[in-house]
Amino acid sequence: MKPVRVVTLCWVLLLVSRLGATRKESPEEASFYYGNFPLGFSWGVGSSAFQTEGAWDQHGKGPSIWDTFTHSGKGNVLGDETADVACNSYYKVQEDVALLRELRVSHYRFSLSWPRLLPTGVRADGVNRKGIQFYSDFIDALVKSNITPIVTLHHWDLPQLLQAKYGGWQNVSMANYFSDYANLCFEAFGDRVKHWVTFSDPRTMAEEGYETGHHAPGLKLQGTGLYKAAHHVIKAHAQAWHAYNDTWRSQQQGLVGISLNCDWGEPVDLSNPKDIEAAERYLQFCLGWFANPIYAGDYPQVMKDHIGRKSAEQGLEMSRLPVFSLQEKSYIKGTSDFLGLGHFTTRFITERSYPSGQGPSYQNDRDLVELVDPNWLDLGSKWLYSVPWGFRRLLNFAQTQYGNPLIYVTENGASQRLHCTQLCDEWRIQYLKGYTNEMLKAIKDGANVKGYTSWSLLDKFEWERGYSDRYGFYYIDFNKKNRPRYPKASVEYYKRIIIANGFPNQREVETWYFKALEICSINNRMLAAEPLLSYMQIVTEIVVPTVCTLCILIAAVLLMLLLRSLS
Ligand SMILES: *[C@@H]1O[C@H](CO)[C@@H](O)[C@H](O)[C@H]1NC(C)=O
Ligand SMILES: *[C@@H]1O[C@H](CO)[C@@H](O)[C@H](O)[C@H]1NC(C)=O
Repeated sequence: MKPVRVVTLCWVLLLVSRLGATRKESPEEASFYYGNFPLGFSWGVGSSAFQTEGAWDQHGKGPSIWDTFTHSGKGNVLGDETADVACNSYYKVQEDVALLRELRVSHYRFSLSWPRLLPTGVRADGVNRKGIQFYSDFIDALVKSNITPIVTLHHWDLPQLLQAKYGGWQNVSMANYFSDYANLCFEAFGDRVKHWVTFSDPRTMAEEGYETGHHAPGLKLQGTGLYKAAHHVIKAHAQAWHAYNDTWRSQQQGLVGISLNCDWGEPVDLSNPKDIEAAERYLQFCLGWFANPIYAGDYPQVMKDHIGRKSAEQGLEMSRLPVFSLQEKSYIKGTSDFLGLGHFTTRFITERSYPSGQGPSYQNDRDLVELVDPNWLDLGSKWLYSVPWGFRRLLNFAQTQYGNPLIYVTENGASQRLHCTQLCDEWRIQYLKGYTNEMLKAIKDGANVKGYTSWSLLDKFEWERGYSDRYGFYYIDFNKKNRPRYPKASVEYYKRIIIANGFPNQREVETWYFKALEICSINNRMLAAEPLLSYMQIVTEIVVPTVCTLCILIAAVLLMLLLRSLS
């Protein structure tokens, strides 16, 4: 009974939001661009190992810092959820590949779990053959289905032993361990994998892991730890790229890049030079922090200036931002065959000078404030507002800043607004439509975007938010042991964009929308009816046979009695 009521409530809210949407048309909608993406444009979806695999201690896998962080019992994660089972994807390879085929994607971006392949993190300590076999089979299944694997080496789940013994990314020796691990992956999978992403969103890894402590390893080394961690990540990335270039590229002919996440920063007041500078600073502290060393050989000047000045005012002898030697600069520069870009939302930026006396912190170093427009549609996550035009600006910014690099969009998506079993995710459809359309405009502007990865294939473990945010094309019932998957409306819609490779014309695109909602309302009813179905199942599987058996027994007894009385 209960789930049915929840679904009804969702419908009411949905209706209200739909009425709201028809009244207010955003400027992007008004200037919607009908047209096609370049031939061969690659459409995909993404996910990561820790968020989906489960099987956290199975078949020889070692613990990662995220296993330790979620098991600590200190309330690190909303509802004290863990990813011990997550989507159970480790045991659902064929099922997940079938979902990818259903979506018609040309690529799937996923990550390898370092401690599944190297339980201690160190290659010399031994390789977990079962881990190699698992990913090898998965890659084979993708290739067999004509789906290109885009493989991330590290998406935050550092082997716990590297953290406990050596301090994780605070220690420069991680670069060697990472490079050994990368070489193992190139060797084992590089015959079939031609797109490698070294790190996924290392800024969040550094900031949340070593500054705020909201993520594993949960350290709060304000104003220092994150810069050090990032410094070592950049070196590790460069070392892995060189390893590929020197040893594997000639045979394997693949590409190695990095995936950087950044929101767009728009000046609050375009006539105020201080706001314009603040917005530029926002982008340099976000994207430039990693992209500038990789594309231009060093940190952005504005980061060096600000952090250097604040460090001096705080009485430190050296800047809290580490320095690359001349040799390191030339070693790091040019170590990306493509730029992976993750993007979710936009902020308005205005200048604010923080006194250095407040103590060192990343926030303090940037001297700015982030704002949101109350008119922006807020989606499931508190931080995520749908602002499609920001995407085009970010793509254009990356194009001009880094010399028109080859770009793959590695993450872009929206989570679900409500907590209930809602398959008609029309706000996600609107987000997908708006953002991919702005990407199309950016390509017409000249950005060299070759692929787009929508985030994400499945509802999954969302780090410190547990299972409360749902980014998936497929809804997962996390209360059920086998984690069943159900398609949301956006599956149908995304599939149409992929098949058409763009937006042919208004009439057709509108029919996609109605078709998607039609299909999902059928699925919704099925999902709501499921408790009823399982009740029916009990009836047919237990009640009916029991009653029949009883009837036969009684009949037999009666027959015996009858026979006896006759004789
Ligand atoms: C850094 O790691 C190395 C091992 O590679 C270790 O010998 C050293 O003690 C570590 N440094 C710190 C500060 O933990
Ligand atoms: C990459 O490898 C090629 C071929 O071995 C070599 O010529 C080139 O110098 C390498 N690039 C860098 C930046 O080391």
